[in-house]
Amino acid sequence: SGADVARLVASRVLDVPDFPKPGIVFKDLMPLFADGPVFRQVIDGIVAHHGRGSFDAVVGIEARGFVVAAAIAYATGVGVVPVRKAGKLPRAAYSASYALEYGEATLEVHQDAFTAGHRVLVVDDVLATGGTAAATLDLVERAGGTVAGFTVLLELAALGGRRRLAPRPVHALLTV
Ligand code: PRP
Repeated sequence: SGADVARLVASRVLDVPDFPKPGIVFKDLMPLFADGPVFRQVIDGIVAHHGRGSFDAVVGIEARGFVVAAAIAYATGVGVVPVRKAGKLPRAAYSASYALEYGEATLEVHQDAFTAGHRVLVVDDVLATGGTAAATLDLVERAGGTVAGFTVLLELAALGGRRRLAPRPVHALLTV
């Protein structure tokens, strides 16, 4: 059930104080990725939530989103499209920039990443302020995809990502 999956996520997240900067508590999900049976249940939980056949491609956001996206793609037989940090993609790409606490970040996707109208499931490990996700959903639409859903393993509610993405629905396996 959803509650079982939420408990599994809670049991496999580590709080790392002062990373990557003083005052930030980093949520490290690598223990979840490293536990084979737990990782499989989490992936199966995401697939069950959206429904097999409800998406034609899965987008993973660099870097930890790649891990989640590849597993969902393999489990469902669809392909993976990476959304990457600026300057990493080899061919013509769309770019979306967003504000960070200090400065700016840019994400990119290949212009030919999607067949027009393809339904795209977007996944990442953590939703915090939502800047990363908002830029990614924008990129998917500019590249001709239709956003079929957005799922994260862990949502940090206090940082307001869900409000920023509204009215788009956010699915989080665990919200803290
Ligand atoms: C983290 C996380 C999300 C993003 C969430 O990625 O994996 O992608 O931040 O933050 P936001 O909701 O405030 O935008 P990070 O920038 O650490 O990149 P990495 O996975 O490449 O280390």
